[in-house]
Amino acid sequence: MKGIVFTEFLELVEEKFGLAMVDKIIQQSSLASGGIYTAIGTYDFSEMLSLLTHLSNNTGISIDDLLLAYGEHFFGILANSYPGLINTYEDPIELLSSIENHIHIEVQKIYPKAELPTFEVLEKTSSKLVMVYKSSRAMYSFGLGLMNKTFEHYDSSATILMEKIKKDGTEVKFSITKN
Ligand code: HEM
Repeated sequence: MKGIVFTEFLELVEEKFGLAMVDKIIQQSSLASGGIYTAIGTYDFSEMLSLLTHLSNNTGISIDDLLLAYGEHFFGILANSYPGLINTYEDPIELLSSIENHIHIEVQKIYPKAELPTFEVLEKTSSKLVMVYKSSRAMYSFGLGLMNKTFEHYDSSATILMEKIKKDGTEVKFSITKN
């Protein structure tokens, strides 16, 4: 997992829960990195899982809710860092249906070590998109947060239904309908 995902996560934890919470979850997670991340580095995903698990235990907020909030926050980071990629699209459904065959392909060129999910489009119209998320990291709630903010970016909104195809969340079907 890319360092930017860790650095932005810890910044958001600091903003929402304070620096003491950042120190606490780093101490509680036995991290090979020692909790020191650079944006361009690459780190083991298990470190993110450990940080999330301890944050969840300390705050009583579920990992899904933490990842949803983090996904919503991360969209702003992506939009600032890669305006060209996002501005290629004039419509949120066009953008979301192009993650797999354009956006994440470009990401993989920039960061060859990025570990990205796959999104298989099952159905697409101008107002509806059905796609299946697959990833061993089961970060579907992070994806939901990114999708919510994608619609907001275009002054639009959608009703998004998530159905787990696999119980562990490594395969999830998203049914997205523009409001
Ligand atoms: C992960 C880039 C849009 C879904 C990531 C990562 C990067 C990235 C750098 C981290 C990879 C790693 O740590 O190894 C981008 C860029 C985007 C974009 C530049 C747009 C300009 C989206 C959108 C979605 C999405 C709109 C909506 C569903 C995800 C998910 C992950 C991810 C769910 C977590 C990894 C996983 O589940 O396996 N993306 N992304 N991305 N991205 Fe994107």
